[in-house]
Amino acid sequence: MPENILIAIAWPYANAEIHVGNLTGSHLPGDIVARYHRMKGDNVLMVSGTDSHGTPVTIAADKEGKSVEEVYKKYHNGFLELFSQIGISFDLFTSTHTENHFKVSQSMFLALQKNGFLFKQFSLQWYSPSADKFLPDRYVEGTCYICGFEGARSDQCDNCGNVLEPEKLINPRAKTGDGALELRNTEHFYLDLSKLEPDVKDFLRQRAGYMRDTVIGESLRKIESEGLKPRSITRDLDWGIPIPLEGWEGKRIYVWFEAVIGYLSAAIEWSRISGQVDAWEDWWMNPAAKQYYFIGKDNIFFHTSQWPAELMGAGDQFAEIFTGEKARLTLPYDVPANQFMNLEGQKISGSRNWAVWGRDALTRYDADALRYYLTINMPESHDSDWDWKEFVARNNGELVATWGNLANRVLAFCYKHWDGHVPSFGAGGDEPPPLRPADLELLSGIEAGFRTVGEFLDGVKLRAALQETFRLATTVNQYLDQLAPWQAIKTDKDSAALTIYTALMAIDSLKVLFAPFLPFSSEKLNGFFGYRTPLFGEQYTQAVSDSLGEHTVLRYRVGQIANLSRWQPSQLKPGTKLNQPGPLFKKLEESVIEEERARLGK
Ligand code: MF3
Ligand code: ZN
Repeated sequence: MPENILIAIAWPYANAEIHVGNLTGSHLPGDIVARYHRMKGDNVLMVSGTDSHGTPVTIAADKEGKSVEEVYKKYHNGFLELFSQIGISFDLFTSTHTENHFKVSQSMFLALQKNGFLFKQFSLQWYSPSADKFLPDRYVEGTCYICGFEGARSDQCDNCGNVLEPEKLINPRAKTGDGALELRNTEHFYLDLSKLEPDVKDFLRQRAGYMRDTVIGESLRKIESEGLKPRSITRDLDWGIPIPLEGWEGKRIYVWFEAVIGYLSAAIEWSRISGQVDAWEDWWMNPAAKQYYFIGKDNIFFHTSQWPAELMGAGDQFAEIFTGEKARLTLPYDVPANQFMNLEGQKISGSRNWAVWGRDALTRYDADALRYYLTINMPESHDSDWDWKEFVARNNGELVATWGNLANRVLAFCYKHWDGHVPSFGAGGDEPPPLRPADLELLSGIEAGFRTVGEFLDGVKLRAALQETFRLATTVNQYLDQLAPWQAIKTDKDSAALTIYTALMAIDSLKVLFAPFLPFSSEKLNGFFGYRTPLFGEQYTQAVSDSLGEHTVLRYRVGQIANLSRWQPSQLKPGTKLNQPGPLFKKLEESVIEEERARLGK
């Protein structure tokens, strides 16, 4: 039975380019799992978009001296380019600045209000009399009242790491230079998470058997030690989603309340633009659907506590407001959050340019070379490190010398000696030949990979899945060393034919096992084997307009026949016509290491 799988990936802020740490943290693991499930024949919906609101984006606009719209679109368009080049195959990558997302977020707000989970409260907030406005927390800096650090943000101290109560900040000043500040009262809406605490705990405990220790442990510990406290969900800002109530015109919904709603609104937008208006319900009003959220560790709280609380608190009211039906929204199945990736032993820092930027790296390296290194080094259980020396060594030693050479050597040899065809046997038809014990042993090992690698992928253990696939590739090399078809061809062509046929079957299967990780080279290899149907669909961009203007989205056209499993061993027929093979990967010069290191921190 095909399953409904929602692949939900963290929405990047429109204030910076995406670097390798972001890619390995959320986008790439989400893509690998999505591609695997598509190959299995499951109904996959993979969504995300640009997180266009909030102060991170307005601060970037101030800094760049541009309008917020201009800035968010600039980064958004860069994201689209990066994702299509590196093959992050979103069914829809949209933005939070759409009419649809506004409506869905406002409906969630109203549903929570109707169910009694919102309340209003006044609080003190820093106000600039000269600019005649309240300043968001990130715009106010001062001295930390805990450690005395002078450059603390009003809501967080980067020196001692504590979350701060803004009104306690010592010597506050506006980042924007808006004169002296004073505390004034302002009214906001709060999400009463304390009322939802028992539900959130149950939600987490039900998932304790399979959620990563780093995720469930942190989430439950935090709730058990501090409890879930009400959180303000509106701000004094003019950029963002209006509050759907009269008298609240000068305020906006807080970015973290609405960005997570994007997972739901993007599914709805996808349904609409693909002409299947109710299709989103298969992933969102279906208790059997499995939702996976791919995020970095800094976003755990929002996805394991706040977002489930919003969904549970909305109950059946969201559907009621939005579709007129009474139905509950599906809850997350797993949140396989990753730790961080460092770079050459130091924390990645965009402002110091201590980073490997996705789009820039793609001007010098192939997508699959980057994807391979980012998967084998994925920070699944602890922080990992991008090291240029290791990148070159693994590219040359593993991708090129082991997997790439294996495929290329066998295909080229076959192409040359069997006249561009898979060897055929007996009467020359496409009947498979009787295989020898060594052939059967190799193929049964590879066949078992569809189960072992599949289980790792089901459990989102992507490093282990790729390592196991790689190990299987080395078994083919060992088999070839033993049977030496390059020698046998001179004395016993029939035996060489059996060996090459077996190796081709193994490589054709490995192509599938590698495909979620290395989609571009697997697709190329699929073409060398002469298949007419591609492994994957195509990504393309589309312009969409609504009352907020026009924006471009990234989409994916599913290539294969729906619900057809391709996650299975090769059925390659003897005598099949091959296409001229070529290398799958490029060897890198050692000089790359120093060139790349020299770019860092400049
Ligand atoms: N924009 C946030 C960040 O980059 C992530 C938001 S994930 C979402 O940290 F689900 F909330 F959108
Ligand atoms: Zn401090």
